[in-house]
Amino acid sequence: MKNLFKNEVSSIRPYIPGKPVEELKRELGLEDIEKLASNENPLGPSSKAIEAIKKEAENIHIYPDSNATELRKAIGAKYDFNPDHIVFGNGGEELLKMIAETFINPGDEAIMANPSFGKYASEVSFMGGKAIEVPLKDYKHDFEAFIKNINDKTKLVFVCNPNNPTGNIMTKEEINYLVKNIPKDVVLVLDEAYYDYAIKNEDYPDSLSLLKERPNTIILRTFSKIAGIAAVRVGYVFTSQEIAQALNKVRMVFHVNRLAQVAALAALEDEEHVQKTVKLNCESIDRMEKYFKENNFEYINSNANFVFVNVNKDSRIVFQKLLEKGIIIRPGYLWNWDTWLRVSTGTMEQTEKFINKLDEVLKEN
Ligand SMILES: Cc1ncc(COP(=O)(O)O)c(C=O)c1O
Repeated sequence: MKNLFKNEVSSIRPYIPGKPVEELKRELGLEDIEKLASNENPLGPSSKAIEAIKKEAENIHIYPDSNATELRKAIGAKYDFNPDHIVFGNGGEELLKMIAETFINPGDEAIMANPSFGKYASEVSFMGGKAIEVPLKDYKHDFEAFIKNINDKTKLVFVCNPNNPTGNIMTKEEINYLVKNIPKDVVLVLDEAYYDYAIKNEDYPDSLSLLKERPNTIILRTFSKIAGIAAVRVGYVFTSQEIAQALNKVRMVFHVNRLAQVAALAALEDEEHVQKTVKLNCESIDRMEKYFKENNFEYINSNANFVFVNVNKDSRIVFQKLLEKGIIIRPGYLWNWDTWLRVSTGTMEQTEKFINKLDEVLKEN
């Protein structure tokens, strides 16, 4: 019998998202569930974004502006960047799909770290490309190995900065080393989904300056994390004129909806919400690190809104037991780091609850 599906569809690894909180509450009969699994903003969205959505709701019978003109202008002005060279997506996720569709022919290669954000490998594979996944070295992207893996088939190099799930950054110096050693016709994708949390680190690279020097670069950002509007879906990239034009050919016409555009615009202007979020993030990380130190758990210094920690127990079991106590985290076995957990920062109440419940779980046999 003939194969009904495109080859890549049969072979692709499906992405396993966490279960919705509503479903878990029903399943486990729990009133309160804390989701510390998807790196969302524990403070919720900016109140300005909520207001903007309420106002815009009466216009949802009209298609959105397919160029997201107002949002484009506002981001361009904020970052002093040519608005025409910004491309939007229905979340950063859609942009990763568009990037693979724009650059990958069957047999082409893309280099990325492992573990890192799983979408790079799946989107490249889906286009018939080969994902070269380079293991982390000392918990970081191993740029020397990246460079060794470059060949004539290499089209894309992904750098997740800060990296998901480890939360650490590649420094200016390290990025400069990579850039000096990869050909100009390889497109460098810098995924800065957690940019706003990372910029307080003075070693974090100034990627927009890099883009000026190296046009074949794509910088990805999202409104899902610090801006707290993950549900409405808006991401964007800064890139060169040439790449922006190519990406725009690939995209769907009305992919960023009206509510998303106004919410993003309002969130962009709400600096107070951003500052509060960053402050809470630091407090939550400090509290978790204190607990990890007291217990001699190995953890990776995070510049994002989550931490990766080795609790020295099977993460499948720890995950399940935490779930039964109303805490959802991301277990490390998903990345083959079996005794590690990725935990998103939360409010201080959520953070304390996580620590208490983890402590209980780890003390049980
Ligand atoms: C590293 C990284 N890149 C991109 C994304 C995509 O985010 P979104 O599609 O919500 O914009 C995420 C989401 O978790 C992420 O962690």
